[in-house]
Amino acid sequence: MRIDIITVLPKLLEGPFNDSILKRAIDKGLAEVHVHDLRSYGLGKHRQVDDYQFGGGAGMVLMIDPIARLIEDLKGQRDYDEIIYMSPDGERFNQGMANQLSLKENFILLCGHYKGVDERIREHFITREISIGDYVLSGGELAAAVVSDALIRLIPGVLNDESSALSDSFQDDLLAPPVYTRPAEYRGWKVPDVLLSGNFPVIEEWRMNEALERTKARRPELLKKSEETGEKGK
Ligand code: ADE
Repeated sequence: MRIDIITVLPKLLEGPFNDSILKRAIDKGLAEVHVHDLRSYGLGKHRQVDDYQFGGGAGMVLMIDPIARLIEDLKGQRDYDEIIYMSPDGERFNQGMANQLSLKENFILLCGHYKGVDERIREHFITREISIGDYVLSGGELAAAVVSDALIRLIPGVLNDESSALSDSFQDDLLAPPVYTRPAEYRGWKVPDVLLSGNFPVIEEWRMNEALERTKARRPELLKKSEETGEKGK
């Protein structure tokens, strides 16, 4: 998988890809992440990338030309499965979308800033728009890092124990059951006996039941969704 991220704040993306699971995936060659500074395609001596909006109003808008040229340069080098604009008014990101996108190869993630991008970019270049939640961030960078993380960890070989991605919250429209580690008792607070029993079928049943109870209590709409769509989550 290759992810090209277009941003005016490349420094913001230095952290997330330089540690832990994402770094390991990149080092192993399972994922490539390339961060492109939009300013290097900026106009004139000052490398201008934004301008006032037509019609007046506060806030700058990212101009069409630097973004168009950068996207066209990238598209000239390879085919992209999706060119995604990170935006609070996009389609809401969830695990299902992450699963689906993780099967694809090449992505461009365009990060908005200030008031956003010139609408013509969205009309003529963007294939998909994604929001990571109903709140407004100061730019699309953190959202792009979130989406990249969710996709990269699903690539086979990225997680040491591949089954651990399958047991994540949301993979079955169920939240994950509680987990415990040593010590088995701390300040009198005990780990449930069943987990110490060594009886794996019973442990599995307990986990499924806990996952169901937790989902019912915290996110009942997930269970309704799986009733509507078929067998998942049962
Ligand atoms: N840019 C600003 N806010 C955002 C959000 N909630 N999701 C994706 N991109 C964004």
